[in-house]
Amino acid sequence: SHRITLGPLVAAIDQGTSSTRFLVFNSKTAELLSHHQVEIKQSFPKEGWVEEDPKEILQSVYECMERTCEKLTQLNIDVSNIKAIGVTNQRETTLVWDKETGEPLYNAIVWLDLRTQSTVERLINKTPGRNKNHLRHKTGLPISTYFSAVKLRWLMDNVEQVHQAVVSHRAMFGTVDSWLIWCLTGGKSGGVHCTDVTNASRTMLFNIHTMDWDPELCKYFGIPMEILPRVRSSSEIYGLMKSGALSGIPISGCLGDQSAALVGQMCFQDGQAKNTYGTGCFLLRNTGSKPVMSDHGLLTTVAYKLGRDKPACYALEGSVAIAGAVVRWLQDNLGLIGSSDELEKLAASVGTSYGCYFVPAFSGLYAPYWEPSARGIICGLTQFTNKSHLAFAALEAVCFQTREILDAMNQDSGIPLTQLQVDGGMTSNKLLMQLQADILCIPVVKPSMPETTALGAAMAAGAAEGVSVWSLNPEDLSEVTSEKFDPQINPEESEFRYARWKIAVEKSKNWET
Ligand code: G3P
Repeated sequence: SHRITLGPLVAAIDQGTSSTRFLVFNSKTAELLSHHQVEIKQSFPKEGWVEEDPKEILQSVYECMERTCEKLTQLNIDVSNIKAIGVTNQRETTLVWDKETGEPLYNAIVWLDLRTQSTVERLINKTPGRNKNHLRHKTGLPISTYFSAVKLRWLMDNVEQVHQAVVSHRAMFGTVDSWLIWCLTGGKSGGVHCTDVTNASRTMLFNIHTMDWDPELCKYFGIPMEILPRVRSSSEIYGLMKSGALSGIPISGCLGDQSAALVGQMCFQDGQAKNTYGTGCFLLRNTGSKPVMSDHGLLTTVAYKLGRDKPACYALEGSVAIAGAVVRWLQDNLGLIGSSDELEKLAASVGTSYGCYFVPAFSGLYAPYWEPSARGIICGLTQFTNKSHLAFAALEAVCFQTREILDAMNQDSGIPLTQLQVDGGMTSNKLLMQLQADILCIPVVKPSMPETTALGAAMAAGAAEGVSVWSLNPEDLSEVTSEKFDPQINPEESEFRYARWKIAVEKSKNWET
């Protein structure tokens, strides 16, 4: 039986780009009691296209729930102690399904997908002054392939079934959170069609000032408003689990994964920031109750709204499309490594890229450039370069990209960050963390409980059910249970390498000319 006194339990579904997880926490200690993870297949039907199967995503959630509950039972913990479930998810990924049959009408178009590049270029060319920031005053976002509106437009224009379902009032649109909540609360027999403000703020259809769908934006993209989910806060009861071992438990938290990580890292104060290394890499800085517009290519996004009557908090965000994805690419596409943990060993065996720079602009470049036509490049190769150098350059790329968004963040806010709080799968790579500190020239701090995204969603879910995970003192958290990486190289060396990286980025932007 379990040693620690159990408080009520809170749980989270964490549906990321590369995998799904279900995790259960003790609300008293924020300790992770049990979890299970399942990988998600991605398909690349054409160059630049990235899709996932909505049913596989749903199945993976059920599987993770079942396995996690089995593990809890083995620990002699009764699953009926779970009081609330939160949902956190890969953002922007776009789905349409039929509300009468419950069937998805196409694969999920993943946020990384580039099929809308020509649409985006056409939209930008039509704006006065060819301005990609034409809709930024309402949305906080540049017009880009990244956000849901253009993906949804593509589905309506190119998939006959979607078109038919829209015309016959049977279509439902949603990001992954909406799809999951609708299915888990009963699907075609009474499922709840909703999303939260953080996920909504990534669609380009949402007005971050009025905190609702914007009729003008919907008209601009030609999206009928009746197919949109209802927008709710990030912490309230949306509905109850309809089936399985957790049947009857409320789903009462919902946050896009980057927002959830901000909450899980306890960044509740204006100025606090975190960087999450997942498939992509996302640095968010809390700006309090005010949406701050960036002059340096960052996004303005809704950070969280933890309750119907609670105020909304905003964040500035630097989004990097490719972080962990470059590791998977080295593994799956080049066969350079057999598993992701081999990368650290390989890179550490040389400890330098030997002048090789790798810009993994596979989905164009996101922040701070927003250049959909950029493509990946590897440069600086010599006869001497081997796969270990390439591995090192890949890790360095993640660090340089973070440096670019940190610089932009510092310029926008005028108050430089003095250390960086990090989390996400890649932070188990110690070489990466050390390199990151070296390239940023500030300490990098990692919590010992790496599942901050899930914790944030579980906290939001608990809060709606009167279960607080906030009894923890945030100071204790960072002092006692974190690992710190201090910069070890001199700043000149760091600046030299960063300047080289910048040259490589320019080449990736203009590789065709
Ligand atoms: O905006 C996309 C982001 O939410 C995906 O996160 O962790 O799957 O890379 P992740």
